Amino acid sequence: MCGIFGYLGNKQASEIIFQGLQRLEYRGYDSAGIAVKNGTGIALEKKKGRIHNLQELSKNLKGTLGIGHTRWATHGEPNDVNAHPHHSTDKKIMIVHNGIIENFSALKEFLNCSCISATDSEVLAHLIQHHYKGNLLEAVRLSLLQVEGTYGLAVMHQHHDEIIIARNGSPLVVGLGKNEYIISSDLAAIAPHTKKYFCLDDKQIGKLTPSGYEVKDLENSAITKELERITWDVKSIEKKGFSHFMLKEIFEQPASLKNCFRGRITNDEIKVTLNLDDAFIKSINRIILVGCGTSWHSALVAEYAMEKTLNIPVEVEYASEFRYRNPILHENDLVVVISQSGETADTLAALKEAKKHCKTIGIINVVGSTIAREAGSGIYIHAGPEIGVASTKAFTGQILGLLLLALYIDEKREKTANLKTIKDALDNLEEHIKAILEKNEDIKKIAEAYYNSTNFLFLGRGSNFPVALEGALKLKEISYIHAEGYPAAEMKHGPIALIDEHMPVVFIANQNGLHDKIISNMEEVYARKGSIIALTTDDRELKKYTKHIITVPETIDLLQPILNSIPLQLLAYHIAVLKNLDPDKPRNLAKSVTVE
Ligand code: F6R
Repeated sequence: MCGIFGYLGNKQASEIIFQGLQRLEYRGYDSAGIAVKNGTGIALEKKKGRIHNLQELSKNLKGTLGIGHTRWATHGEPNDVNAHPHHSTDKKIMIVHNGIIENFSALKEFLNCSCISATDSEVLAHLIQHHYKGNLLEAVRLSLLQVEGTYGLAVMHQHHDEIIIARNGSPLVVGLGKNEYIISSDLAAIAPHTKKYFCLDDKQIGKLTPSGYEVKDLENSAITKELERITWDVKSIEKKGFSHFMLKEIFEQPASLKNCFRGRITNDEIKVTLNLDDAFIKSINRIILVGCGTSWHSALVAEYAMEKTLNIPVEVEYASEFRYRNPILHENDLVVVISQSGETADTLAALKEAKKHCKTIGIINVVGSTIAREAGSGIYIHAGPEIGVASTKAFTGQILGLLLLALYIDEKREKTANLKTIKDALDNLEEHIKAILEKNEDIKKIAEAYYNSTNFLFLGRGSNFPVALEGALKLKEISYIHAEGYPAAEMKHGPIALIDEHMPVVFIANQNGLHDKIISNMEEVYARKGSIIALTTDDRELKKYTKHIITVPETIDLLQPILNSIPLQLLAYHIAVLKNLDPDKPRNLAKSVTVE
């Protein structure tokens, strides 16, 4: 949430920062700002709304050192004044901040200062001014010792050719180019400039100058940073001819899923490296899957597959609830945290809580992210950068990652799974998904029939129930249509009251053990004139109820939810576009939720 980008080198900073902020826009897009050091002081431009509003203004900023920010509002409404950068009273110090300063009121009182914005962040600029005695790094360090909360922070001063950076809970990476430094909240934005980088860890602070950099901890001890290299292709963060990142990412699923299982499964072995010894795996009594939003849905899907494969009780928890509930955990429990970004504040806190009591592992997309590092070990899903705010390829990757985990645990315990059958099904997944993607135009036609609806129900049974939840979430977050997912049989316990000719109901109705039951649920909707959209592996029985049928190829039960999710992603996408909305940047949302 919120994006920080900064530049120090010998090129014009504002242009590079503007482009960097555009790449970070998915992290927040209610206002943006850039500050650049020029010959006389620091020039500042900031504006409410999307980053492109800043394009013309940023051309006024001339200089080779600057910082910028794209905001997702927490404290204070989105407007020009609350936009970052914020400055000290003497306007010599500029800061951009990502995170929450929890004790901002106490700090304001301590400083007896009046802030011009309603943000929690501005007080940091005043605090640094208070501690500044000629050494900016020291002033920032002393300030941060007084701060409670989370921060990714970049600071500049009119009298110093340097950027000071700090991190606690909100990511900050430093790219090392040729005679230049690029700072960013994520790797994707520095990748076009350099592949060499280091990440600040929590409670670390650094100084970047034209002649070098230094990093220390808040206690003033020097720290040597290991340099890392970006290994993925920069092209993966371009739209590549697709109208939106979301559509591109939906279409990437044949490849992203292959990347997830490639080299990790053979006919008789699962090859993943986890920091869990065999004795512990044999002793696992319970698995607890923890995540938020779409990641929580992937956990619900996996719960079915895991219980079936392992015969171990599996519980699924919202990270935000789990972290505050004093969860009862035992040493024979395994807590698995699931996160695309690896930065979600609630999931990170849940992980830290779980680590006090039992073993933990992560199912993560972003390599080197905070949760990935904190979890100690886990399975990267290798979906590649996901830029669209609505998670698509990461969702299906998470289901697969969790399945690999289940199979790995099974291998060390009972060896009940038939790996050859699963491997064969995985090998066919690419073709199956391509066949679904070929139906894109048909799905668009269904979207055309329904995009003016104001409500939707999504119904499924078994592991298709979480697929229904995810279908509803995708639709509501990008089209702003109210949508609910239910287990199909629950409909008659309440939601059936909503059914009339204005209520589209999406049924996920595969040919599996529950098919006849779901047909009965469909009858109930049909009888009440609800409009039915059916997703199925065999449309023969369904033509009676609707002409809006999406058929998907049939695969093994463990993988069917992956195939079923993809048409629902496309349906939500087309409905949003038909409503003239930007599916990549839905209102009020941001990609990585680094605040509670
Ligand atoms: C919905 C969506 C969110 C995220 C949630 C968790 O499309 O993307 O619901 O799934 O904010 O994010 P991660 O997976 O990054 O922890």
